[in-house]
Amino acid sequence: MTGCDQSAAMIKVARERLADAADLRLTVADIEKLPFPEGSFDVVVAMGVLEYTDARRALRELARVLRPGGLVVVTMLNPRSPYRLFEWSVYWPAVRLLGRVERWAGTPPERRHAASRTGIRALSRRRLCRLLGDLGLRPVDIAYYDVTPLLPPFDRLVRRWSRRWREHPETTVSRGARRCLGTAYVVAAR
Ligand SMILES: C[S@@+](CC[C@H](N)C(=O)[O-])C[C@H]1O[C@@H](n2cnc3c(N)ncnc32)[C@H](O)[C@@H]1O
Repeated sequence: MTGCDQSAAMIKVARERLADAADLRLTVADIEKLPFPEGSFDVVVAMGVLEYTDARRALRELARVLRPGGLVVVTMLNPRSPYRLFEWSVYWPAVRLLGRVERWAGTPPERRHAASRTGIRALSRRRLCRLLGDLGLRPVDIAYYDVTPLLPPFDRLVRRWSRRWREHPETTVSRGARRCLGTAYVVAAR
């Protein structure tokens, strides 16, 4: 198995955690410029990363290193979920506004609210599937996960005491009606 991340710190942690794993290769690499030849892998998984990249370029690289007929599994934040809509258009702007008010009121920097820009670019399912289709990859399964009717910051309070989230994340997965509440989704394509 081969794993990569552009962060050397993440690769170091992975190396420590997987010290006993056999046949494992961990590399610092940019998903938009992978250091592997064409058709190197039967299965390629990109979790929690596409939203931080130029997704078209990253997917092109995943398709390039995948062997013909191989399986690609990618995740993406769901920009249409009530959670993300609220988080991005109400919650974080409100935190930043509060930080500005605190600054104006003379609150010391270490006690001010702040939220740095993440640079996240989340794609809708339709757009992601179109990009996959352009590369000759056909989605075979799509599931939404982290399904929640809660909005930030209440989700954090609930997660703190809810064993469901911590021990059984699979119970927050939906392919049915509740999928619109999924804060992220996973697509498997061939
Ligand atoms: C939310 S974390 C997810 C980490 C891990 N994949 C997981 O599922 O737990 C996002 C990761 O994407 C990595 N990342 C962001 N842009 C990247 C890029 N262009 N190439 C490779 N990794 C990238 C970051 O370094 C970070 O470790």
